[in-house]
Parts: sequence; C-alpha cells; structure tokens
Amino acid sequence: MYKSIIRPLLFQFTPETAHKLTFQALKILQSTPYATNLLESVIKPLHEPVKLMGLTFPNRVGVAAGLDKNAELIPIWKALGFGFAEIGTVTPKGQPGNPRPRLFRLPKDQALINRMGFNNQGLSVIHNRLRDRPQEYIIGGNLGKNTATPNENAMEDYLTVFKGLYNVVDYLVINVSCPNISDLDKLQDHKELDIILSAIMQERSKMEITKPVLLKVSPDLNDHQLMDTLQLVNDKGIDGIIATNTSIARSGLISSASQVKQCGNGGLSGLPIANRSTQIISMIKKELGSSFPVIGSGGIINGEQARIKLDAGADLLQLYTGFIYSGIGLIKQCLQQ
Ligand code: FNR
Repeated sequence: MYKSIIRPLLFQFTPETAHKLTFQALKILQSTPYATNLLESVIKPLHEPVKLMGLTFPNRVGVAAGLDKNAELIPIWKALGFGFAEIGTVTPKGQPGNPRPRLFRLPKDQALINRMGFNNQGLSVIHNRLRDRPQEYIIGGNLGKNTATPNENAMEDYLTVFKGLYNVVDYLVINVSCPNISDLDKLQDHKELDIILSAIMQERSKMEITKPVLLKVSPDLNDHQLMDTLQLVNDKGIDGIIATNTSIARSGLISSASQVKQCGNGGLSGLPIANRSTQIISMIKKELGSSFPVIGSGGIINGEQARIKLDAGADLLQLYTGFIYSGIGLIKQCLQQ
C-alpha cells in the first residue's frame, strides 16, 4: 500500500512538505488515545533483542539521525517496529537550518540530496521533551555544533549538548561528518577530532553511570583518513562507530546530470552510497576487531542491502532514505534477514 498509494501521493509534494505532512499526521496519531497501542497490535513489531555496548536493543533496526531531529515521535517509531531511534542532530541553541529548498529526491537512484543544516529546536526544548520518554526503549542522542559557532569553539558546543542530553538518552553520537555545515568536516582532521573526543571522554569519565559514546563517520574519508580516525577511536576508548553519514560525491548516478546539478550542494543518501558505507564497515571490523560495535547506515533500501551490511559486520542498522522510498514494510524486510 505504501508504494502504490501513500508514496505517489506524498511525492506530489516537495520533499520537505511531504515530510511535514507525514509528521503532522503521525503527531495526531500519537496524541490519539490508544492509537499507538492499536498500531503496535496491528504491526506486531518483531522483538529480537540485540545486546551491544551494555544496552539491550529491542531489535536491530533503528531510525537514523535527522528523521526525528526534535524527538517528537518516539512512541510512533516504537509502535512501527523500530528497535531504537536516534534523535538530533541537536545543537546547543535552536536554529532554522539552511534556506529552502534544501531537500531533493532522485527517484531513479533511490536517493536524496539534503543540505538541511542542523535545523533543530535546540538542547533545552529537546531535553524537556525527552524527560517523558518511554524508559523501556533505546534512544540515541546525536550531538552537533551551532552553525554560528566557529570550529575553534566547537568543542564547547559538543560538550554542552553531551552534558545536556546525557541523562535523557541511552547512547551519544559525536557527529562531525555532516557535509551541510560549513567546514564541519574539518573537525574530522586528526588534531581537531582529538580535541573533541578527548573532551567528551573526559567528561564521560566524571559521570556516575557510563553510557556509550559513538562517532559517526563520513563515507568521503579516504582509506588513509579512515585508518587515522580508527586509531583515534581506539586510543580514546570510543565505544562504537556509525558508518556512515551522507556523501558529497555524485559519481555513478542514473539521474540526469542536469537534475543532479539543480539540487546543488548537499549530502547524498540512499542506494548510491551503499557500497562505500559497507566497505567502511568492513574496514572498521578488520581494523578494530569483529566485536567492535558498528551501526550500519547508508543505502539500506531493501532486505538485500540490509543483508549486505550485516554480512560486512554491522551489529545494528539505521534507516532514513530507504524508509522514505519503501515505508514501514522495510523494517520487517530488514529484520527478516
Ligand atoms: C540526514 N542524516 C543526518 N545524520 C546526522 O547525523 N544528523 C542529521 O541531522 C542528519 N540529517 C539528515 C537529514 C536528511 C534529510 C537525510 C536524508 C539524512 C544522515 C542519516 O542519518 C544517514 O546517516 C544517511 O542518510 C545515510 O543513510 P540512508 O539515508 O542512506 O539510509
């Protein structure tokens, strides 16, 4: 039904309007008494617990960062069958993100290009919302810096969001790999990354309860840069990696060059980034050992792609673009692998 009725209807609208309409509908559903219970009893989410990083995930398929930036739909993600949800990217202050249009579809490639630019309501609003979170679910917090914060002060922003979200999420993700914030990718350079990872891990050591800290990496790191990052991850005691974020590459697309050009700058997601993301997962597992926790993200648009990521060693999976193209059926397809 999603592909034959809902998707054609939603794709009549611009991608961001379709996203807003879907969110509005889901929010209404969420606030209707018993609706999430009813949804859950119809969908019958698969409960196949995965123990990782000291947490028990209800199942291995989660919501990728960016889909629910402001943590507005956690009960819905749970009812739809996602085993966990990563909220954010959260920045210290709320910010509107980049001017529109900033989200584009490339249907022939089963891909999206976005330059949203960390639009979110900010730490305080999101923190308050998460105080009422369902306790038996797993929620990750994705940490970023405000666009106006220069890179030399980035560490303070990451620390602020880390400390602010610590008590209301189950794991935390350092996101320096989003291509849509000017110069953010420079924070992936050894010296800058060292400063941020050291500060976060030092802060974590002061916490009463130890929660996992992960790093989200870019598919655009070359092999040498990736190895350098893995060395740092190992040295600093980072608990896991999310591989990968979106890409600035545009090679191998089926969509016409003019259509791609019209989209402009931004991060490419969906099927075209699947191979590089998978390659990176394999390299992480080879370098840091098969038991090192990796969450696979990038181009999981069907069960087969989920299988490929799991075969490469991913312990958990996250969906974004595939969910837009395939709907909720994709969750079960991935879980049946
Ligand atoms: C994203 N992604 C993302 N990642 C992140 O760490 N913080 C963010 O705020 C966002 N925002 C965002 C917005 C949009 C519109 C998209 C499409 C993606 C990246 C996302 O979490 C995921 O890692 C990539 O999209 C790759 O997975 P898919 O989309 O190919 O399944």
